[in-house]
Amino acid sequence: MTAVGRARWEQHFASGHGFRRADELELRRLTEAAPPHPGARALDVGCGLGAYAAALAGLGYRTLAVDRADAAVAATRDRYADAEPRLQVQRLDFEDAAAVAAALPSAAFDLITMRLVLAFMADKPTVAQRVRDLLAPGGAWVVTTPLASNLPEARRHIGLTREDIGILTEEWPEGRWYDLDGALRCFVLRTGTRP
Ligand SMILES: C[S@@+](CC[C@H](N)C(=O)[O-])C[C@H]1O[C@@H](n2cnc3c(N)ncnc32)[C@H](O)[C@@H]1O
Repeated sequence: MTAVGRARWEQHFASGHGFRRADELELRRLTEAAPPHPGARALDVGCGLGAYAAALAGLGYRTLAVDRADAAVAATRDRYADAEPRLQVQRLDFEDAAAVAAALPSAAFDLITMRLVLAFMADKPTVAQRVRDLLAPGGAWVVTTPLASNLPEARRHIGLTREDIGILTEEWPEGRWYDLDGALRCFVLRTGTRP
């Protein structure tokens, strides 16, 4: 895995670049996989320019969007100011255990999304455990990603390897996946059902 540092993302945003936007099909599949219920809370990790987090808020989730890049947080706040208070934005490095523990309550989120993000995180088993700690009973972790095996060699670092997928999918009572346009795969992993 090639680490893509924070400075590189800051540079990406500063040069006005965005990312592939979620289309109607992607959002429809998401609501089928993780239907929002009244009061449902979502956490979008690595929100980038905020379009996906804003879409989650639009679907009815009380959404917290976090990103470790200042430029991403600023852009999301600026672009989606009218979505507050349903959409909140905060700077947070999800790989920083102490920062996550200080900022986020345990067992509080019904949905945690990582869209085009997990491949860039170094310690995936720790990230997966952190997600389990933050999810409420019955909550879902939705990971949307390219697969490394479908990418040209120079871009494989932006996708998940077979080994990564093994790590991602183990230790969940329920899991499934589906494919989206643009060679993206979406994994839906669920904690035990609500009591
Ligand atoms: C390829 S972009 C995807 C943005 C957005 N999810 C989307 O689909 O448009 C990856 C984002 O993840 C963020 N990111 C990477 N590692 C992170 C971490 N450890 N904690 C929080 N954000 C992170 C980057 O700053 C960047 O905004």
